Amino acid sequence: MSDRIIIFDTTLRDGEQAPGASMTIDEKLRIAHQLARLNVDVIEAGFPISSPAQFEAVQRIAAEVEGPVICALARAREEDIRAAAEALKPGKRTRIHTFIATSDIHIDAKFGDERYGRTLAEKRRTILRLAEEAVRLARTFTDDVEFSAEDAGRTDVGYLAEVVQVAIEAGATTINLPDTTGYCVPDEYAAMFREVIRRVQPPPHVIFSAHCHDDLGLAVANSLAAVQAGVRQIECTINGIGERAGNAALEEVVMALKVRGERFGRLQVNIVTQHLTETSRMVSMATGFPVPPNKAIVGRNAFSHEAGIHQHGVLRRRDTYEIMRAEDVGQEPEQIRLGRHSGRHGLFSRLAKLGIEVPEERKEEVYRRFLALADLKKEIYDEDLRRLVAEQPDENPEALYQLMEMHVATGTHRAPEAEVQILNRATNTLHIGRATGDGPVNAIYKAIDQAVGAAHELVSYELRSVTEGADAVGEVTVVIDFNGTRFTGVARHTDVLRASADAYLEAINQLEQYRADRESVTFVRAGIMQSFGGAAA
Ligand code: KIV
Ligand code: ZN
Repeated sequence: MSDRIIIFDTTLRDGEQAPGASMTIDEKLRIAHQLARLNVDVIEAGFPISSPAQFEAVQRIAAEVEGPVICALARAREEDIRAAAEALKPGKRTRIHTFIATSDIHIDAKFGDERYGRTLAEKRRTILRLAEEAVRLARTFTDDVEFSAEDAGRTDVGYLAEVVQVAIEAGATTINLPDTTGYCVPDEYAAMFREVIRRVQPPPHVIFSAHCHDDLGLAVANSLAAVQAGVRQIECTINGIGERAGNAALEEVVMALKVRGERFGRLQVNIVTQHLTETSRMVSMATGFPVPPNKAIVGRNAFSHEAGIHQHGVLRRRDTYEIMRAEDVGQEPEQIRLGRHSGRHGLFSRLAKLGIEVPEERKEEVYRRFLALADLKKEIYDEDLRRLVAEQPDENPEALYQLMEMHVATGTHRAPEAEVQILNRATNTLHIGRATGDGPVNAIYKAIDQAVGAAHELVSYELRSVTEGADAVGEVTVVIDFNGTRFTGVARHTDVLRASADAYLEAINQLEQYRADRESVTFVRAGIMQSFGGAAA
């Protein structure tokens, strides 16, 4: 038995059959070139009889892509096989993959017509003949012929062995036994291969192949179980795309065989794993199917650590929580993602990496503010951290006014309304303001003016995003004027309305501080004047 696993990529055929995943010919070509860089052994490029576009895609891939064997699918029908052979003509190393259904359910549904026989036994005999004829015809075009018994996973194993025997005798070099409906469980699927191989006693050049669908989420597990039963080709797709729930994910199969090589007799797998993530992104872009963040191997979170204990662990020793190296699959190494579950260790080691040393006496305050921000934002980026450390802690204890509560309502058919509750810390009284405005910010500012009885003018308002992402922090800068003197307030928040209110109130607090300072100067000066008899007035 060979010690090498053939990786048969069917992203462009079964993968493209995923509802909504169709790709243009140019996209298919680009992906086929990438699959060649990834070093897959076989590319199933399409099903030429099914449409002119499929035919052309196979033809161009066969003509232009070098390295892997280029394969085309054909039902066990003469016209399909001729179309596949024609499309593959420009290729150097080509394979025809012909298939016919073998399970009773499929026979009943697809071969119901009496011309295939009246009884199940007669229909089964017809299928044996059609399989044999298809393989023989395919062999007249190429020495590399794959035969698939569709729905093998639900086929009577005795009949399955008969079909396989006929296909091998007709010249098939690869025998694929698909779990077409994703119905099998691993030990059952492996047992099917063992039993067929035991009954058929195939010659050594014949390779058995697994092709699994993911209807029960078992496609990868079933493929690996098949390998343990003697299979040496796995049919799979990038990101596991394919009919219904998809096929076995190539990246998962390959990394399982590599990371857990000892469980599979250290079989050789020729994939250049460093290209896995890039290939996954490319397929995702072409199909419009996003890669879930938690997708094994290629997902954005596959090598990210957020929980404090995990971050602490991987910073000490990567293998505490990583079973493979991120860079081996083309991902960024050591992704410490900062969020609400992160601990001090993760935060300060990231800050240190950014070259920011936080003095011991500020650490607690910085961590507390980090957690407050993490409650507002799903993920904290480096830019958030830089700002967090640069900013002065919390609010100004000298501030006269403090925003206690704010409600804003706006809609397509109503004027924006705002209500604010502001505490005057000097008198310990709560002031409420309510207003409508041209926009929500205008309504908030009018409500604040009402609550604090302000007599200033708004000179400018500026909003900009200071960090990335949909939940970015917005920074608002407000300038107000009071009798020719200007005061600036700046505030940041993930909620831009909140940042707008805070910035405005900060400017007002500065104005109040200025007034209080002037009053005390006047008061002191008046006292001095009094003691000198008012001489210098
Ligand atoms: O799932 C399946 O049975 C197939 C065959 C055509 C191999 O895709
Ligand atoms: Zn399939």
